[in-house]
Amino acid sequence: MGALVALTDAAVLARVSPQTIRNYIRDGRLKSATRTPTGRYMVDREEVLAVFRPVRQPRIIVVANQKGGVGKTTTVQELGVLLGRDVRTLLIDVDPQANLTKLFGIDREEPGALSIADVMLRRKALREVWVKIEPPANLWLVPSCLALGLVPMHLGQQFGADFILRDAVQKVRDDFEFILIDTPPSLDRLTLNALGCANEVIIPIDKGPLGIRGTENMETILEQVRDYNKDLRAVRVLHTKSDNTVASNTTRDLLERRFGPNLLRTAIRSGTKVAEAAYQAEPLQHVFPESHPARDYQELAREVLSLGA
Ligand SMILES: Nc1ncnc2c1ncn2[C@@H]1O[C@H](COP(=O)(O)OP(=O)(O)O)[C@@H](O)[C@H]1O
Ligand SMILES: [Mg+2]
Repeated sequence: MGALVALTDAAVLARVSPQTIRNYIRDGRLKSATRTPTGRYMVDREEVLAVFRPVRQPRIIVVANQKGGVGKTTTVQELGVLLGRDVRTLLIDVDPQANLTKLFGIDREEPGALSIADVMLRRKALREVWVKIEPPANLWLVPSCLALGLVPMHLGQQFGADFILRDAVQKVRDDFEFILIDTPPSLDRLTLNALGCANEVIIPIDKGPLGIRGTENMETILEQVRDYNKDLRAVRVLHTKSDNTVASNTTRDLLERRFGPNLLRTAIRSGTKVAEAAYQAEPLQHVFPESHPARDYQELAREVLSLGA
């Protein structure tokens, strides 16, 4: 028997309502259920995950923005490390710059090394390509390499070329609670492949009016993606690299007005430790967990979990 969790936490894990958990306990379908002296139910988290696995859908979150340097890759890494402590999480690096891959200290440039390029061009299965990241306990990465940059050209006008990743992801959806996809700073075929898989999109935006204007193309593309991806449920904006400057505060106001409830409540503060951690090829959470941006990512992970879908 593993760790016991409260009923509300069990509901989040199972992605059902607390009432559903109560019903399952009443019907004897969660055998580990016990009550605390104050009458609160506690259940075994492993049992919750096992019992609800068939009805639970993984959350596939694509982090995208055609602007570079806004914190896409950092966000995927930090969320991955935090979510991967508790639930099975797969990260997919779909950027030929392979920054996410490098941030984990992995290199797929030597000839013959398998990467996402083999999935896109040779229809390799994701499970043949992914590598286990440790720690945390439940994190896997599909690495990228420079050769991925040639994939759009090789695919040309091939029929179905925008759905290759979606087909590959469909085959592993029962294995994970979260699949997070990092994308290149462009709206090319690789990004379209990623957006075609998404249930949710997170668009990080840093400061400045150009940052907000840049999302207009993104929104046009997302409208097109909705035509062929009916599973796309939520597009949310994440304010990154915030600080107390006028530019940053103005950005926050603009984002609130423009995106309203689709602006994630958590803003990620700017901090020098992000780059320091990157130099060490370590996630910020591992080396500077108390730094401002690390704490903000902890808050973001909680917010993402609480949003449920
Ligand atoms: N919250 C932050 N504070 C300070 N620097 C950051 C922060 N987030 C990202 N960076 C830095 O900004 C640069 C771009 O971040 P990255 O996550 O690679 O963005 P993208 O993937 O959108 O290009 C990197 O050098 C990274 O270390
Ligand atoms: Mg990046």
